[in-house]
Order: sequence, then C-alpha cells, then structure tokens
Amino acid sequence: MRAVTWHGRADVRVDTVPDPTIQEPTDVVVEVTSSGICGSDLHLIEVMAPFMTVGDVMGHEPMGVVREVGREVTAVKPGDRVVVPFNISCGTCWMCSQGLQSQCETTQNREQGYGASLFGYTKLYGQVPGGQAEYLRVPFGNTLPIKVPDGLPDDRFVYLSDVLPTAWQAVQYAAVPPGGTLLVLGLGPIGDMCTRIAHHLGIENVWASDVVPERLARATARGTHVIRSTDQAQVVSEIRDATAGRGPDAVIDAVGMEAHGSPVATIAQKASAIVPDAIMEKVMQVAGVDRLAALNTAIEAVRRGGTISLSGVYGGASDPMPLNKMFDKQIQLRMGQANVWRWVPDILPVLTEGDPLGVDDFATHHVPLEQAPQAYADFREKKDGAVKVLLTP
Ligand SMILES: NC(=O)c1ccc[n+]([C@@H]2O[C@H](COP(=O)([O-])OP(=O)(O)OC[C@H]3O[C@@H](n4cnc5c(N)ncnc54)[C@H](O)[C@@H]3O)[C@@H](O)[C@H]2O)c1
Ligand SMILES: [Zn+2]
Ligand SMILES: [Zn+2]
Repeated sequence: MRAVTWHGRADVRVDTVPDPTIQEPTDVVVEVTSSGICGSDLHLIEVMAPFMTVGDVMGHEPMGVVREVGREVTAVKPGDRVVVPFNISCGTCWMCSQGLQSQCETTQNREQGYGASLFGYTKLYGQVPGGQAEYLRVPFGNTLPIKVPDGLPDDRFVYLSDVLPTAWQAVQYAAVPPGGTLLVLGLGPIGDMCTRIAHHLGIENVWASDVVPERLARATARGTHVIRSTDQAQVVSEIRDATAGRGPDAVIDAVGMEAHGSPVATIAQKASAIVPDAIMEKVMQVAGVDRLAALNTAIEAVRRGGTISLSGVYGGASDPMPLNKMFDKQIQLRMGQANVWRWVPDILPVLTEGDPLGVDDFATHHVPLEQAPQAYADFREKKDGAVKVLLTP
C-alpha cells in the first residue's frame, strides 16, 4: 500500500510499504478514506526527529471503512464506517475506566516512561504505524474504533480522532466560570476548534491570539475577539484591557513547543540537526528543547487564581518555568494528550444533529495522499491558506 513515511527533518515521502494484516484476534484493518495532518506531525519532522526512524508511517487522525476483522471482534464488521482515535487505548483497564485513555495501562510505554501508545508517533509512544496510509491496523477492535453513521461526508466525523476531543478537553479543563473570559493562544486547527467549542458551550467572552491572517479571519467570522499578535507584552496588555485589568479566567495554550518568539530552543533545535540522534535523544529528555513563549504568555496573561489549560505539546524536560509567579498567582494548570473516548459521548450527538461547530468546511485543503509532502510543507509554512489539511488515500 501507499503511505506517508518519515525520512528526516522536514522530509516526508509517499512510499510503498507492506499492507497491514490482522495480528491479534481483536484487530481490525481499516481502509482509510480521510486522514488529517496535525500540528503534532510538525513536531515529528522538527524537534522530535531524534525519536523517529526512517520509514515510520505517519498520521494519527484517520477514518475509513472496516475491511477485515479478527475472529474475536464483534463490535464492528466489514463495511462499517469508523473513526480511529489517536490514542491507542484498550477501553477496559483502570485508566480507561477513569476516562484517562491517554494513560491506558495496557498500552503505556513503561520502558520509555511514557503514556499510552499513539498512532504514527515517536518511539516514546510505541512507534505504531500511522493512518496517513491506504490501510491501518487498529488494535482493540471491540472498544477502540468509533462507529459513525453513513450518509454524511467524512469531514463531519474525521475530527473525532483528535481535533474535536483535544479541543473539547482543553475547554473543559479551562473551566471558565459563567460570564467569564477565555483566551486561546494559537489559531491552528486546535485553537480554532477550541474557540468554536467555547462558543457552543456558552462561554461568553472568547478571545484568541495569532498572527496568521487566514486563521484570524476564521476566528473573527465566528464571533471570537482576536488579538493580532503573538508578542507577550501586546497580548497581555490587550487582554487585560478587555478584562478590567484582571486578565482572563482561563487561557488555553494551543501552540506547543514550536511557539514563535523563544530564541533558546531554536538553538536546541538547530543542535538537533547536527548532533547524532543517540546523543540528542538523551539531551532532549533531560534538557530543555521547548520554546516556551506561548506558555509564558499564558502564565503572564491569566488572572490570579485562574486556569491554564495546556493542549499544545511540549517535549523537553527542564526548561525553566516561572514557578514563583505560578505559585504567587495561584494558577491552576491542567494538561495532557486528549483522552479521546472520554469525550466521544459528548461530541458525537453534536455532530449528528447538525453542524454547530462548522466541521463540514473546517478543512481548507483536501489533498490526494500522493501530494502529502507538499501539503506538509504548506501546512508547516502556513502557505496557501493551509489551516487544516485532509489527505484522501
Ligand atoms: N493535547 C493533545 O492531545 C493534542 C492533540 C493535537 C494537537 N496537539 C498540539 O496542539 C498544538 C496545536 O496544534 P495545531 O494542529 O493547531 O498546530 P499549528 O501549528 O497549526 O498551530 C499553532 C498556531 O500557533 C500560532 N502561534 C505560534 N506561536 C504563538 C504564540 N507565541 N502565541 C500565540 N500563537 C502562536 C501559530 O501561528 C499557529 O497558527 C500543537 O502543539 C500540537 O502538537 C495536542
Ligand atoms: Zn493530531
Ligand atoms: Zn486501557
């Protein structure tokens, strides 16, 4: 089959790789019909490169049609339409039963000291072949795939794999009080969807910051107040002006480790391009590699006693955080990979009853799988209006 594979920094290609097969009696094989490119994929072709291996199949936002099922699979059958969550979670362990599917105890990567395996991610998360491919092997066929109805286009459901639960969790973790104000940093797919969900859930004052014109325009069109800057001083000053000098009740960081405006990590990133991977792997796990600009803006901007909800992914271990300020401001900080299944029962009805979140035209680009390298480049460079790209194998 054809699949998007990792070859190095800023280098993905479409290769022919072996077709996936049923390996466990609970596996299913899904023929992928749509597969998103995520901001997290950009980390893999940059900062997280030392944890990747040439030939790794990318992608963790797929949906499609079940083609084969293992002999113990009863919950889905060939022909069923399913979305595949980006966390590989068993659905039955203690963590899964707590709604913490990103910490699944069956797929936790204990040797690496990391949480549940993820499709198409680094060796820290199981190095499991991903879904930017014609076919995908999906374990836990009775509990993992999300069955969705026929009749509506893929765009209606595909974001259940990641963007929707990630943004939903970010907004829930933000815990904005009635009448309160939410500031979302970053208007990539995740930040944009956070603002949509925030409006849908009745949060009254929704603000967002970014500098990319198309992304700002999308947010403005749906009633979000925007700050056309990612400069910390500017963002903090504008949001304080809008909140009686106090700051927003909650800030969502939907940016992560590649934030604009933090010089230190740029050096680490450059180093990661010239230092051998074996050494860089160690360096990255014990030393800082993140650009903390967005997180620092969140800490500065949030009101005293407010909440920071972190959905942007950070990869380093010891970048200095202003703990004194976090303590003094009594900040509450919640974060993590989204627990996809935790939110599916809340989100699915929102998708079948209409399109209040605007998912039908959320994607800016639908691109054949073969054109993935160009699509990655455009998304990374934020060129050609690329906000959300769906690959169609
Ligand atoms: N927690 C999870 O489960 C989960 C799931 C999916 C994605 N993510 C993470 O969420 C983050 C966003 O993903 P995305 O797909 O929207 O990516 P993206 O790269 O398209 O979006 C990031 C946006 O942030 C903006 N930005 C950069 N620096 C900024 C700053 N200092 N202040 C404000 N905005 C700034 C950029 O212009 C860009 O529009 C990534 O780190 C991704 O890895 C987390
Ligand atoms: Zn993703
Ligand atoms: Zn589990």
